[in-house]
This record gives sequence, structure tokens and C-alpha cells, in this order.
Amino acid sequence: MTAPRHVAIIMDGNGRWAAARGLPRLEGHRRGVEALRRTVRNATDLGIEFLTVYSFSSENWRRPVEEVTDLMGLLKLFIRHDLADLHRSHVRVRVIGSRERLSADIRGLIEEAETLTRDNAGLTLVVAFNYGSRAEIVEAARRLAADIASATIAPQDVDDAVFSNCLDTAGIPDPDLVIRTSGEQRLSNFLLWQAAYAELVFTPVLWPDFDKAALEAAIAEYHSRERRFGGLSSPAGALSS
Ligand code: FPP
Repeated sequence: MTAPRHVAIIMDGNGRWAAARGLPRLEGHRRGVEALRRTVRNATDLGIEFLTVYSFSSENWRRPVEEVTDLMGLLKLFIRHDLADLHRSHVRVRVIGSRERLSADIRGLIEEAETLTRDNAGLTLVVAFNYGSRAEIVEAARRLAADIASATIAPQDVDDAVFSNCLDTAGIPDPDLVIRTSGEQRLSNFLLWQAAYAELVFTPVLWPDFDKAALEAAIAEYHSRERRFGGLSSPAGALSS
């Protein structure tokens, strides 16, 4: 079974996992980080080239300040604790999202992770942190408007490719498969532009329980779907007809 090239995951259900066990939400997020480590290894084993994970959305600032602090702490811990291992495994790390509200130490760690792993040729791990798709699209529109105002580019030259290149994900292929755990069936402002043709798979598994079998099941469901990119199914009608 060939793996999709790019898998993106909305890691949901940490809080419910913890609540079901009478544990604090932080414990659910900690187990979430373990599930992330596991998934990076499994994705590598399965030959996935790009793995994008939604770690903190721009809407997550609305959570209680203690939980926001915990999530920031977990990102720091993840980079400090796992960066050497990721680098040894040839993983290239990219972080998408706004860095504006992030503390200087987190910004520094993100830059360190990206710089250290820049030339690695293994799995690309894209961490969406303080990420929101609409804000990303608005920022791209702003940048293009400025380029048009300064006559750097003509309006008629703005196309899909030019626009894609203005997004945080420039240079990263669109996701083939978007998985959301915990039974929720929404995109929640995640990769709205990039997921235009992605297959969406929703699994009831809570993120801390997400394992290789769950990843393989999602990939099997992806393979059972027929991707037509707006064309007709073959052989009755070829894509070009
Ligand atoms: C959703 O669970 C998950 C998040 C908001 C954060 C995802 C974060 C991790 C997996 C750990 C952090 C990893 C890094 C790299 C920072 P939820 O809290 O919304 O769960 P619930 O819907 O059950 O309450």
C-alpha cells in the first residue's frame, strides 16, 4: 500500500482522554506529545514525505491562561527534548503560523529547529503553531496587494501558484489526506486553501490513543476513495475529456 505523500492531522481529543480518566487536561496534552512522537516514527516507516500537525490554533488563545501556558511549555519541551532525535532521523522541521504573539524563547527555539534541520532529506514535519488559515490567507492577500501597488507583479499574473507561494506553506505540496481524531467533523480553520482536494478522514480515536493501526486505517480509507480533482472517473471519462 503506497502512502499518501502528505498527511495532515488535526490532533483532537486530549482533554476528553484526560477527563475520561479523571486526569488534568495537561496530562492529556502530554500523552498527545507522545502520540506525536509515535506518529512521526510511523509516518517515516510508512514512507510519508510530509506530515503536518495542528498543535496550537490561533483560536486556542481563548483557552484558560494556564492551559495556554501548558501548551507553550509542551512545544518548548518538545523542541528541546526531541530536536536532536528528529535531526538524527533526518527529519526536516518547519513551523507555520504567526510568530507575533510568541515569546522570544519560543521564537528562538523554532528558528533553531528549522535551521538545524533545513538540509535534512527525510520526513518533513510541519508544525502548525499559532496557526489559522484565514489569517494566513489574509496575510498573503496583503502581501500580494503591496506587490501590485509597487508594480512588482501585475494583477493578471496572480494565479493559484503565485498565491500558494505567498502562504506559510510555500514549497510544501498540498495535503492528500487530512485526518481529524476524536470524532469531530470540522476543519477548524486548518489548511483551508491547501486542503481543497484532500480526502478527509474522521476517526473516533482520541489523539493520545492514535497509533500505527489508526494511521494505517486512515490511509486504507484514503485508498478506498476515488480522487478525481473535479474531473470524471475513469475509464468512462478521462480527466482531460
Ligand atoms: C486538541 O485537544 C489538541 C490541542 C488543542 C493541542 C494539540 C497539542 C498536542 C498534541 C500536544 C502539544 C504538541 C506540541 C508539539 C505543542 P483538546 O484539548 O481540544 O481536546 P478536547 O476537545 O477533548 O478538549
